[in-house]
Amino acid sequence: MKRIVIFASGSGSNAENLIKFFHNSDKASVIQVLTNNPHAKVLDRCKKLNVSALSFNRVAFSKADDVLNILKASQPDLIILAGFLWKFPEFILKSFNNKVINIHPALLPKYGGKGMYGMNVHQAVVENKETETGITIHYVNENYDEGAIIFQAKCSVLSTDSAEDVAKKIHLLEMQHFPEVVNELLK
Ligand code: GAR
Repeated sequence: MKRIVIFASGSGSNAENLIKFFHNSDKASVIQVLTNNPHAKVLDRCKKLNVSALSFNRVAFSKADDVLNILKASQPDLIILAGFLWKFPEFILKSFNNKVINIHPALLPKYGGKGMYGMNVHQAVVENKETETGITIHYVNENYDEGAIIFQAKCSVLSTDSAEDVAKKIHLLEMQHFPEVVNELLK
């Protein structure tokens, strides 16, 4: 069984979707969810789905070895950032070379970088009158949103679409593609 650990900061709809997908798999399973936000909705989701979840603070993540040691003990084959908003520390990346991936709600390299997350991305896409946007699943390196791209899927943006409309389209793309892409990657 391949072991997946997920990092999430907020709602956790992607985390839930991945957990449910791999509940039905005999090849991989989500063994743990980690969050920087002790009030994140993802914690309620994990409770309902019976998946172990922990929150941590900035020191435990970026300065001390606490989160690194949790990961070393969990021995993940893949670490998935699913709506995780803190920069992933280089010393943790070094220990899990090529095993950390992220999902981004735009077609990178467009609309990436610091501050580009969630609704900020969709607002920028609408303001710039883009006619298409999409999702990018990519490896994580030391720079925000710059690691090698694994997968992209596109959707159209209509001139009448609000940022909320775009968010709904992106959510559907994420629900549709993310588990399958992870499944392929683990093969
Ligand atoms: C997702 O749309 C994900 O692509 C985005 O945050 C949302 C999390 O939703 N990630 C980023 O913006 C990272 N820069 P969720 O908590 O319901 O899965």
